[in-house]
Amino acid sequence: MNEADFAALVAATKETLQRVADQFAPAVFASSLAAEDMVLTDMILRDKLPISIFTLETGRLHAETLSVLDRIKETYDYEVELYRPQPEAVEAYVQQNGLNAFYESVDMRKECCRIRKVEPLNRALAGKHAWVTGQRRAQSTTRAALDVQEQDDAHAMTKFNPLADWSEEDVWHYIRSNHVPYNSLHDKGYPSIGCEPCTRAIQPGEDVRAGRWWWENPESKECGLHVVDGKLIRIKPVATNA
Ligand code: ADX
Ligand code: SF4
Repeated sequence: MNEADFAALVAATKETLQRVADQFAPAVFASSLAAEDMVLTDMILRDKLPISIFTLETGRLHAETLSVLDRIKETYDYEVELYRPQPEAVEAYVQQNGLNAFYESVDMRKECCRIRKVEPLNRALAGKHAWVTGQRRAQSTTRAALDVQEQDDAHAMTKFNPLADWSEEDVWHYIRSNHVPYNSLHDKGYPSIGCEPCTRAIQPGEDVRAGRWWWENPESKECGLHVVDGKLIRIKPVATNA
């Protein structure tokens, strides 16, 4: 993409965020602290948009991911709000199934994600009119039909994916040209970062999400945060130039 096209992409994304702030208050941004989310964090905090930022602190994040919270504080003087799972629910799951039962079956894995991510997300979204995510269409088969604006029936609100059209290259171009802080795991072979036990580094040429829940099929690799039309996944062939 040339610089003029990139500038137009950035301008369109900022317009989307401005529209969220103007027309959907109170709105929140769910940040996993990964690269895409740092692009949106930079846009929101530099322009002082009234969109508050939260992270689902699952209790299983990498130390490198948690240290991004400090980098955000240093760079933008902003404290990201943390939502944690209910301790009783985590204790019951661990006692009944073991600490790492998510490796045993997709159901066990989804139950862990439900306790550590989905329930806290519901609390974070309560009373809001819209939420923003850093999802991109090119990230996976499950996101091939992603729109910038969607109706999220599961949470009865509007959901915005302002980076839906962005490529991975666009994300890194923005980060480097704006000196945006980012998770150091990205420099160690982790293009996509979730919880520590469910994320691993990938080899050159592997799919960007190959290191997420690597023991599962690509079609099951969503954690329940992103439900559309009552369905967890929307499979459409990914365009070869996506
Ligand atoms: S996931 O569904 O597979 O975990 P992914 O890591 O690609 O999602 O992130 C997609 C978007 O979901 C992020 O851009 C962010 O908006 C949201 N998200 C994922 N994990 C978290 C988290 N721990 N806290 C807040 N938001 C998150
Ligand atoms: Fe649990 Fe793994 Fe889901 Fe994190 S990604 S909530 S550790 S199953």
